[in-house]
Amino acid sequence: MILTEKETTALKELQTQEKICMDHYNLCAASAKDQGLKDLFSQIAKDEQDHYRVLGKLMEGEIPALPESRLDSSSYHPAAAYDSTSNQGDKQHDEILCSDSIGNEKMVSSDYNAGVFRFGSSDVRKVLNRIQTQEQQHAEMIYKYKQQNGMTASC
Ligand SMILES: [Fe+2]
Ligand SMILES: [Fe+2]
Repeated sequence: MILTEKETTALKELQTQEKICMDHYNLCAASAKDQGLKDLFSQIAKDEQDHYRVLGKLMEGEIPALPESRLDSSSYHPAAAYDSTSNQGDKQHDEILCSDSIGNEKMVSSDYNAGVFRFGSSDVRKVLNRIQTQEQQHAEMIYKYKQQNGMTASC
């Protein structure tokens, strides 16, 4: 598959974004207070690494298979880590990480949505569409974690 210059630039921009996502989640995994949330962030970081790799393959003209997301958002049921007796500073800290991450996923998801329209190949569009779905699932799992832990403010 031969990409146009515009298509290559679009892939490069998405890949830069994925690198930032990967770094963001690795940092969040290191910083989160609750082990369950650390685990969630670590798994998402690996998905972002897959996205980065798949975009690299597309840039080389290949149509790679996108691996399944490491966690299935519909069967993700996080345990409650925080209640009224918990350290509220820790809870607030983790809530900020969650809200920040959901905001990032929203942004990245809309970048994929815009990106899809720039490609001539329906195979490329399908790969980008699947990545976008995984980004939405990342946000959904973090949303579930927030709900389960009484972190209801915004996002
Ligand atoms: Fe991603
Ligand atoms: Fe994501």
